[in-house]
Amino acid sequence: MKFLSISEAMKKGKGKVAVRGWIHRKRGSNKFIFIILRDSSDIIQCILKYEKFEKLWKDLDALLVESSVEIEGIIKPDKRAPTNYEIDVNKINIVGIAEDFPINKDLNEELLGDRRHLWLRSQKMNSILKIRDTILQTMREHWRKKGFYEYHSPTLLGMQAEGGSTLFKVDYFGKPIYLSQTWQLHAEPAIFSLEKIFTIQPSFRAEKSKTSRHLTEYWHAEMEVAWENFEYLQDDAEGMLKDIVFAVLKKNKKELNILGRDIKKLEPIIKKKFPRITYNEVLKILKEKKKMNIEWGKDLRTIEEDELSKLYDTPIIVTHYPKIVKAFYMKEDEKNPKVVLGFDVIGPEGYGELIGASQREEDIKKLKENLQKDGEDVSKYDFYFDTRRYGSVPHGGYGCGVERVISWICGLDTIKDAIAFPRTMTRYSP
Ligand code: 4AD
Repeated sequence: MKFLSISEAMKKGKGKVAVRGWIHRKRGSNKFIFIILRDSSDIIQCILKYEKFEKLWKDLDALLVESSVEIEGIIKPDKRAPTNYEIDVNKINIVGIAEDFPINKDLNEELLGDRRHLWLRSQKMNSILKIRDTILQTMREHWRKKGFYEYHSPTLLGMQAEGGSTLFKVDYFGKPIYLSQTWQLHAEPAIFSLEKIFTIQPSFRAEKSKTSRHLTEYWHAEMEVAWENFEYLQDDAEGMLKDIVFAVLKKNKKELNILGRDIKKLEPIIKKKFPRITYNEVLKILKEKKKMNIEWGKDLRTIEEDELSKLYDTPIIVTHYPKIVKAFYMKEDEKNPKVVLGFDVIGPEGYGELIGASQREEDIKKLKENLQKDGEDVSKYDFYFDTRRYGSVPHGGYGCGVERVISWICGLDTIKDAIAFPRTMTRYSP
């Protein structure tokens, strides 16, 4: 008989079905064994009756959770069962016997981290990983429908782009080089060929902070586009986040429910326009509404971003940051050279910066000055200056932290749960 997924079997709803999966829960008496079977799609209650399995009873009775089995039986609706269906089992094949599964609800975060490879089987991780899949697929579709090409940049680099303090050094045949913090310096050259490009690939940051928002390896969704202006970048970033929320609400209601996510908090994202506020206005708002005094020229800290996010129920686009706090490649605002045409998208509910973006500086002299101020050897960047030497055009782009978005959409307490095997300052295994 052809195996159905558990959700397909429940859709069928009656008659003979064959399903396979892992024993999620088990209880029994000397007359019945109830198994909650799980596969990637769902869970279902299965009942095994002694009268049908007399010879196998001892083996079945001894089966522990996470053992894998194939089952054939008759499915029917049953209000008492956890997913409202039950299979009356006629045939069972034990595929893999599980040892005593070392995961239980009393494990602390550290032990769950050590046993991450097993914790992935939990309903929680299953739901998050499904939402992650929707988010990544939606990002790709968002850019594809606008004519962007998927393009990839190297991971091993000879120079930094986002500041030396978060660089990972790699011993490259005796020479120190770095893991990429962003695709950007190797993406800009490609817009002179493809014009509109995006990637979703890992970035690396040697973050020495143990926060709920920082990973050392994270997936970075980045776009770069020729000819377009600052407003285009903001529209695209807002559009992408709206597409993501729309897709997750459409495809993943069940998973959001398992995670206990309040869907009402996501609904305004689709309907409302995100506020676009300058850095100067943010300082005013925080002063008036939160009694926070921030000196002009200081970057917004986590606590300030969090207080700001409490004032809105959508992400916020903060523009025109002081040049001194932003990366060397951000374009100076012609109207006020102290600020740059860059923006951050701050997530709601205290989820922090989701996106960092800018129009790119085209003036080689200014780029060199900025790099020198950062103490960089400008000769390493000569290939990058070539993009400005041969037919420079206005261009810009942004980078979105995939796990930051997943964390926010799923309402997670920590970014570590937004990825299967998190890498942080203190964890690189399993
Ligand atoms: O603001 P960032 O540093 O911008 C860049 O890397 C640009 N070069 C992107 C571009 O224009 N192509 O990083 C972009 C985003 C942040 O907004 C944040 O969401 C995420 O990357 N991010 C992290 N996510 C998880 N862990 C970390 N340690 C992160 N650091 C940045």
